[in-house]
Amino acid sequence: MLTPRMQLIFNHVMGKTAADIGTDHAYIPIELIKSGKCERVIATDIRKGPADTAARHIKKQGLNIEIRVGSGLSVLKPGETEDIIIAGMGGKLICSILAEHPQTAAASTLILQPMNGQYELRKFLRENNYKTAAEDLTVEGFKVYNLLVIKECENPVEYNDESDFHLPSALKGHIYFEQLRQKKQRELGKILKGNEDAKSGRNAEVVEYYKKMLERITEK
Ligand SMILES: C[S@@+](CC[C@H](N)C(=O)[O-])C[C@H]1O[C@@H](n2cnc3c(N)ncnc32)[C@H](O)[C@@H]1O
Repeated sequence: MLTPRMQLIFNHVMGKTAADIGTDHAYIPIELIKSGKCERVIATDIRKGPADTAARHIKKQGLNIEIRVGSGLSVLKPGETEDIIIAGMGGKLICSILAEHPQTAAASTLILQPMNGQYELRKFLRENNYKTAAEDLTVEGFKVYNLLVIKECENPVEYNDESDFHLPSALKGHIYFEQLRQKKQRELGKILKGNEDAKSGRNAEVVEYYKKMLERITEK
């Protein structure tokens, strides 16, 4: 059985073929094939250790899932699978994986589940002309997890002001929006305090910026 975070990723896979970049345990590819949701899944990892773990789990289930070892999207051809999952990694690492192979990234639907750095990821996607088709959330234990679906679509999620990169207004109304807001308030509040207390001198501009962002996300 998948955890709520993995189930959220599974729910957003719509293609019949998918690649899971940084698969580790391969639980998502296994469920995609076992359930019949996908016909073909490629599980990849940069390290041999996790790829071996994936191979063991797949073998135990008696499934046919190809494993490739290599960095990011280097192991895929553009358009080789309808969907590409990049989950359980930091937002900045996801940005660099996409930036290294833009053609491959642009040729599939991307299902991105960043563990942190959501602000940097949203900004990168916007600056590189990716369309965000959907944002979603789940909660596992006390943690809130974000998910973004990136694909060509008619009505992309709009980030209307800078504060939307921290807390998208598009998520308002989601059952876990309040949890996400509180998490962002804690995160931004901590950065603000760090800058207000900075021994090397208070950076007035940074302090102003975080005060404003905190105000905006509190108003949403
Ligand atoms: C924390 S695990 C996440 C596993 C799974 N995707 C999930 O969401 O549960 C991160 C995995 O990504 C792999 N990884 C890190 N950088 C990578 C890269 N550039 N390309 C492919 N895999 C990478 C790591 O080896 C590790 O197995």
